Amino acid sequence: MPDITLTTLQSLKQKGEKITMLTCYDATFAHTCCEAGVEVLLVGDSLGMVLQGHDSTLPVSIADMAYHVAAVKRGNNGALILADLPFMSYATTEQALSSSAQLMQAGAHMVKIEGAAWLAESVRQLNERGVPVCVHMGLTPQTVNVLGGYKVQGRNESQARQMRADAIALEQAGAAMLLLECVPSELAAEISQAVKIPVIGIGAGSATDGQVLVLHDMLGLSLSGRSPKFVKNFMAGKDSIQAALSAYVEAVKTVTFPGAEHGFSA
Ligand code: KIV
Repeated sequence: MPDITLTTLQSLKQKGEKITMLTCYDATFAHTCCEAGVEVLLVGDSLGMVLQGHDSTLPVSIADMAYHVAAVKRGNNGALILADLPFMSYATTEQALSSSAQLMQAGAHMVKIEGAAWLAESVRQLNERGVPVCVHMGLTPQTVNVLGGYKVQGRNESQARQMRADAIALEQAGAAMLLLECVPSELAAEISQAVKIPVIGIGAGSATDGQVLVLHDMLGLSLSGRSPKFVKNFMAGKDSIQAALSAYVEAVKTVTFPGAEHGFSA
């Protein structure tokens, strides 16, 4: 796979070709995802749940993230590596700069932070200093205790209006990408059209510029035995992980995943 850069992702959006992203936490899966053609490897703080067995992402540290980013980098073959800044590691702009430095030096090409327009100043300073930023909006798992659970966001008109305005403000501040989690499909479609930067969805319908899933979820692996509505088990009917990963890439590119049953309404 040729090296995927921010420019590649921007041109995929312009061409209307969907962007493929999966979470990835180690070298072997990085290698296997690249062979399947996954364009963006997200070293997500979901590793706190799927690797470490916690019940949220809050216990994950910047050292944990740097360790897994370095492992993914060793197995990577051309994908863009996106890394989560964990809980409270970007509470101030100073912290965002210092935490991002650690993940970029470990091998990330872009960092992801969760929130809304309040992040604009951090986004601006990171971008000016050479760190592309993806802002994760909608259901932001690091604020699960404020949200009162893992719930769909943007369902009422005032929330929806705020999310659209925040997305535009973050693009203007220099965000390189947005990620929308558990947002009504129609709102996600409107935001994707309203901004020029790529918008990736998870539980946000098929009209975003790309899709992401947690690797373990799409391989049908779950500690609880339950999986969210927006997940499809790509291992079903497949005899290898490689075949499941390739089926995911194919389904995202041909817009056969996600289906209407994986999305939410307002
Ligand atoms: O950490 C993660 O895996 C994520 C995805 C849910 C998008 O942020």
